[in-house]
Amino acid sequence: MAPIAFFTALIFMLSLKLSLVTGSAAYCGPIEATDRDRIQFALNLEFLEAEFFLYGALGRGLDSIAPSFAQGGPPPIGGEKANLDPLVGRIIEEFGYQEVGHLRAIITTVGGIRRPQLDISAQTFAEIFDAAVGYKLSPPFDPYLDTVHYLLASYVIPYVGLVGYVGTIPDLYNATSKSLVASLLGVEAGQDAVIRALLYEVANTPVLPYDMTVADFTNHISELRNKLGGCGIKDEGLIVPLFLGAENRTDSNILSANPNSLSYARTPPEILRIVYGTGSEYKPGGIYPRGGGGNIAKRFLAKT
Ligand SMILES: *[C@@H]1O[C@H](CO)[C@@H](O)[C@H](O)[C@H]1NC(C)=O
Ligand SMILES: *[C@@H]1O[C@H](CO)[C@@H](O)[C@H](O)[C@H]1NC(C)=O
Repeated sequence: MAPIAFFTALIFMLSLKLSLVTGSAAYCGPIEATDRDRIQFALNLEFLEAEFFLYGALGRGLDSIAPSFAQGGPPPIGGEKANLDPLVGRIIEEFGYQEVGHLRAIITTVGGIRRPQLDISAQTFAEIFDAAVGYKLSPPFDPYLDTVHYLLASYVIPYVGLVGYVGTIPDLYNATSKSLVASLLGVEAGQDAVIRALLYEVANTPVLPYDMTVADFTNHISELRNKLGGCGIKDEGLIVPLFLGAENRTDSNILSANPNSLSYARTPPEILRIVYGTGSEYKPGGIYPRGGGGNIAKRFLAKT
């Protein structure tokens, strides 16, 4: 390994360790916010999904379909067309268009925000996967390489939106907001289920050239998200110990859910800790090198 790459990896792992230490004191309770701010917070994830799915399926992003939705925010860094098989290509293309609809629904209901700077480069995903497995993968994980790599990278994404929506609904004040978020949640959950079911079909297949199966990768990613979130187990891989399976009776775990098979919920700070990859809602990084947009994300950024 080149010395610079090694050094970067070392710094990355050290900062991750540090953030995990601070993460143990993470705040897991509710936050105060208006409906509008809570729903606009979700735009951060919807922008990410739109860009990642559109680039993956088409090789171009939101600006090629609905440029005004970005409100002048910069285009994402590093999006690429993924080498997808025809079935998954169709599915991801549909998901991409669905995200455009979600953006429109939110913007017309509560108003939009500037698209935050997103970094969806292969290198950023490689760093996330290195952090998940706990060492530097060689060759670096490339989300755009093929269908399985892309689905594993996607496993990182709608689920976080889904648990965020589950966490948001109980805190919303009015019926318009609740109705919008419930409907967003329905489709996010569907996308997550499709991605997980496709991965489950190949759960025991090795992801070459790494010495790990698809299920191993999902377990590592879920563990990383639990660590970064700092609020216990709210994320589970595809094959789990019985005590995490439905009714303790199965180790298959096509959907991630709690002991009563109800969806887990996350607060905005938990989501920021995860998507920044730093374990801290105050410290941007990863897919959001300059942090998220909207009042909630900015509230924490202001304190750095
Ligand atoms: C309900 O919340 C939405 C935003 O979610 C807002 O646009 C609307 O004005 C609110 N309605 C009332 C009656 O407060
Ligand atoms: C499953 O096991 C856990 C302990 O690991 C226990 O708390 C829970 O009640 C069990 N669920 C059922 C349905 O038996």
